[in-house]
Amino acid sequence: MTAHNALIVDLPPITPVYDDSNLNGVAGLGHVPAPGEIDVSHGTILYLEDVTVSFDGFRALNKLTLSIDVGELRCVIGPNGAGKTTMMDVITGKTRPDDGKVFLGQTFDLTRMSEPVIARTGIGRKFQKPTVFENHPVWENLELAMKTDKRWFASLRARLDRAAQARIEETLELIRLQHHATRLAGELSHGQKQRLEIGMLLMQQPALLLLDEPAAGMTDHETMELAELLNTLRGSCSMMVVEHDMEFVAALSGDSGKVTVMAEGSVLAEGTLDSVKRDDAVVESYLGR
Ligand SMILES: Nc1ncnc2c1ncn2[C@@H]1O[C@H](COP(=O)(O)OP(=O)(O)OP(=O)(O)O)[C@@H](O)[C@H]1O
Ligand SMILES: [Mg+2]
Repeated sequence: MTAHNALIVDLPPITPVYDDSNLNGVAGLGHVPAPGEIDVSHGTILYLEDVTVSFDGFRALNKLTLSIDVGELRCVIGPNGAGKTTMMDVITGKTRPDDGKVFLGQTFDLTRMSEPVIARTGIGRKFQKPTVFENHPVWENLELAMKTDKRWFASLRARLDRAAQARIEETLELIRLQHHATRLAGELSHGQKQRLEIGMLLMQQPALLLLDEPAAGMTDHETMELAELLNTLRGSCSMMVVEHDMEFVAALSGDSGKVTVMAEGSVLAEGTLDSVKRDDAVVESYLGR
């Protein structure tokens, strides 16, 4: 036995960070659930109950409870430090909560699944800064994103080329980059890069998209183009959008869409944008500042 092996033998047993039982007993890290495998029979795609996260005794999330319906586009607003990004970290498995429930559909306990498994089970996350392959053409960015979705390889194989091409073209049109397909992603404007990254997430057919301040740094025109894109996606996947830009929030939530206001790690108010704007607690903690 080499010294290297002896070292491995001496290590204590490793506790797996994911639990196969959450993936209906047939899953492991390589398992990719079919879209229908997320049990949304109760109409809920995402459910958080009493989620608490502490950093050195400070509660970034404090008994946070909220749920999102299938197909819903939910806007989340709230002051800096309210815990909005931390909530997305918990949903995507980047941060483990100290306490509370986090479920995708009825059966996937996200607190017990690893980050890559959560991503492959159907949660796509868009960070604030666009992350595209700058030195590759736009269409190739979409192709690369699709290849990380093993479903394409599992189900299509022989038809991959034609089907993949059709899907890339469809997505290019959706994100309005059909006339920029052969340009290098690095040459795109900020707003175009943001749309490309959303396109890359869509290639992986997410059930739920999380977008953290997607309109930050955009011009007014780019912001409204993004709102239009997200409104087009409405119904085809569920979305949670964290944003400070109230015009953007208004364009997404309309007259009847539900808006969640977070403050100090909890939900402060929930309702239509008009109703939360009139809420005294919201005015005091956020809008009135
Ligand atoms: N890894 C960490 N370690 C220590 N404290 C953290 C960590 N991540 C977040 N926090 C703290 O938790 C609180 C919530 O932060 P979070 O980033 O979730 O807020 P936010 O609502 O996204 O704010 P913003 O609107 O500024 O993006 C903040 O006080 C922040 O400083
Ligand atoms: Mg944040």
